[in-house]
Amino acid sequence: MKILVIGSGGREHALVWKIAQSPKVEKIYAAPGNAGIAELAECVAIKATDVESLASFAERNHIDLTVVGPESPLIAGVVDVFEGRGLTIFGPSKEPARLEGSKVYAKEVMRRYHIPTADFCAFSDPQAAAEYAHKRFSEGAKGLVVKADGEAAGKGVFVVHQLVEALEVIRSLMEERVLGDAGARIVMEEVLTGEEASLMAITDGMTALPLPPVQDYKRALDHDMGANTGGMGSICPLRIVTPEMQQQALEQIIHPAIRATRDAGIPFRGVLYAGIMVTEEGLKTLEFNVRFGDPETQAVLPLLENDLVEVMHAAVECRLEEVTLHWKPRYAVCVVIASGGYPGKYETGFPIEGLDRAAEIPECVVFHAGTRKEGGKVVTAGGRVLGVTALGDTLAQARGRAYEAVRCIRFDYMHYREDIGLKWI
Ligand code: AMP
Ligand code: GLY
Repeated sequence: MKILVIGSGGREHALVWKIAQSPKVEKIYAAPGNAGIAELAECVAIKATDVESLASFAERNHIDLTVVGPESPLIAGVVDVFEGRGLTIFGPSKEPARLEGSKVYAKEVMRRYHIPTADFCAFSDPQAAAEYAHKRFSEGAKGLVVKADGEAAGKGVFVVHQLVEALEVIRSLMEERVLGDAGARIVMEEVLTGEEASLMAITDGMTALPLPPVQDYKRALDHDMGANTGGMGSICPLRIVTPEMQQQALEQIIHPAIRATRDAGIPFRGVLYAGIMVTEEGLKTLEFNVRFGDPETQAVLPLLENDLVEVMHAAVECRLEEVTLHWKPRYAVCVVIASGGYPGKYETGFPIEGLDRAAEIPECVVFHAGTRKEGGKVVTAGGRVLGVTALGDTLAQARGRAYEAVRCIRFDYMHYREDIGLKWI
């Protein structure tokens, strides 16, 4: 089989790495890929959002299966375009991808299908939004979460603790449009407290096969300080989510959301990801994503025993009922190494040393994210540069190996968190 993977981050490197282990696969292409992906796949210079060019490439090269990493092409309708041309692709169509593309839509689905989530209101008028914030704070609310409706690459959510802050966020999103049209509508909801977990399931629109729970470390600095990022590390499995809780999440969150997409006419196929808060009152849904998480995937896929290509094929052909996922009884820890300054401004182009030494640590894989080749050397090319994953019999062993590998690697101004997985040891 010939496979095309769309995207260029650590998640896509993990996908390519796993796909390359399938005996069914003769050739992998990645668009646009990165320096690590280039070791396993032929990288083609097509942007992940250039949907028409991707489909033409897949047609010309007789691609048997296309796998979409990031959300943008899914929200833009890459699956509809591919299927319209008779091409096989793993991921949800544009309509069900609205679960990630619109926070208002996702919250309305949650309300309609009784999916546990924070109380909320949606606004398209800044004045009404400001009045609501006034009302909530005058009623004694300790905080409020303000979310831009549209796609904002993780930059659209603000947890505020004072009315002035809330008003400032409303103004910048809705009036100044700092995030463009993403801020044309907003959701405001109550602040939840607890542990966050990422629960992903592979689904064909009927059957949903859960992946083990993962924890993503979202903040830039140790002890969850600093700005929100795309994710600075991940651990899997996350034991605070018990098998009973996972079952409950399937029944109360994942399946109702899939049912909602069936009821709306186009069943969700692909990976449905529920961002969950484990609160004292039980599990609450923070958000839906319509794809594999990044860096969750870098911790999950190394634990999967199955041939991922077979699983994705079964999903596309609506025969997931026949599939059982098998997991290594191990722990995985992924530590992200970022460019100094990320998620704010940072420089790129710094040579990366020590990649070979890191790869020699037992049960360790270095996934590339923002990297490229320059004159035979691997250099930094993005905010999140590498994701170093290691496995172990215990979380402590996996963590020890991941950090041992991280310490082999050097580039100017590199930054990583020291506390990935630490609080669970
Ligand atoms: P979202 O994209 O909606 O998952 O939001 C991004 C991040 O904001 C989440 O991972 C949480 O850390 C935080 N967040 C979102 N909604 C809430 C909420 N209702 N209460 C507390 N934190 C939240
Ligand atoms: N790590 C969070 C996400 O993939 O959205």
